[in-house]
Amino acid sequence: MRNKAPIRHIGVLTSGGDSPGMNAAVRAIVRTAVQQEVRVTGIIGGYSGLTNARYMPLGARDVSNIIQRGGTILRTARCEEFRTAEGRAKAAQNIKDQGMDALLVIGGDGSFAGAKLLYEEHGTHILGLPGTIDNDLFGTDHTIGFDTAVNTAVEAIDKIRDTASSHNRLFFVEVMGRNSGFIAQACAVAAGAEFVLIPERPQGIDELVCALEEGAKTKSSSIVIVAEGDEEGGAFDVARKVKQRYDHYDIRVSVIGHMQRGGSPTANDRILASKTGVLAVEYLLAGEHNAMVGMINGCITLSPFSDAIGQQKQPDLELYRFLGILAT
Ligand code: F6P
Repeated sequence: MRNKAPIRHIGVLTSGGDSPGMNAAVRAIVRTAVQQEVRVTGIIGGYSGLTNARYMPLGARDVSNIIQRGGTILRTARCEEFRTAEGRAKAAQNIKDQGMDALLVIGGDGSFAGAKLLYEEHGTHILGLPGTIDNDLFGTDHTIGFDTAVNTAVEAIDKIRDTASSHNRLFFVEVMGRNSGFIAQACAVAAGAEFVLIPERPQGIDELVCALEEGAKTKSSSIVIVAEGDEEGGAFDVARKVKQRYDHYDIRVSVIGHMQRGGSPTANDRILASKTGVLAVEYLLAGEHNAMVGMINGCITLSPFSDAIGQQKQPDLELYRFLGILAT
């Protein structure tokens, strides 16, 4: 969507779960805006900061030395108030009072659902940058933070493998991904796991046990990656169900958890954040809004918020075939 009004002042916020690379995106946004003589206000604590008027001015030097830092200097939140029409009206009034002409929102699907409503109800011009470790946004091959989260989890799984093989154990390792298995799938291939369970491809415990029994003929230890949102439950549930059928396995469970969301972003995440940050400002000044800036096959793309959150990005199911071959 295009808008012709000039943009002289933008607000930027990070929202939802933090993801490594959010700071790199803020840096890119601020520096691009400064170069275009556009003022930037940082909104502290996501939509909660927007509804409760918590701001910080951002200049080029305020974003020095943050490209390598995990978390978000703007802080973030999951804001219940913004889910209500009253909360969004308060936010819209604050935007007006501050003289902000447009917003850039770095976040995931929930954040973009809020941005879309703010546009529909109050005409606020917003572009989004895909900031979530889950990688579950349609309209971009990768989200900012996904690569770092996968690398962090793989490092942990490598260590778990050392102890799994020393003790001849079967490990169930749970990784994040509320409703999606992108992290789990990538970790399974990269860490050489025997099996992976993800919500997008429901599989019964039977199939899993069958694969484990087959593997047990030649292997003394195995690793199964479980996405936290899998329909069989988390890793503890899956381990319990497997144990009920075959109690000869020496089973352990490890939940990697929020460690995956922290830490210094990988070069890939910094580059993705930097590119989308620069382009987001340029698109905003060119009149675009109500859309997410992503990257597909190396090219920057704009997808309407309705697509980014309304369409489901499908995991690459061919990875299952690879995993089957590689786990032989
Ligand atoms: O959306 C990112 C994510 O890390 C999910 O993978 C996870 O389910 C969720 O956030 C956890 O949220 P919280 O930190 O609020 O518990």
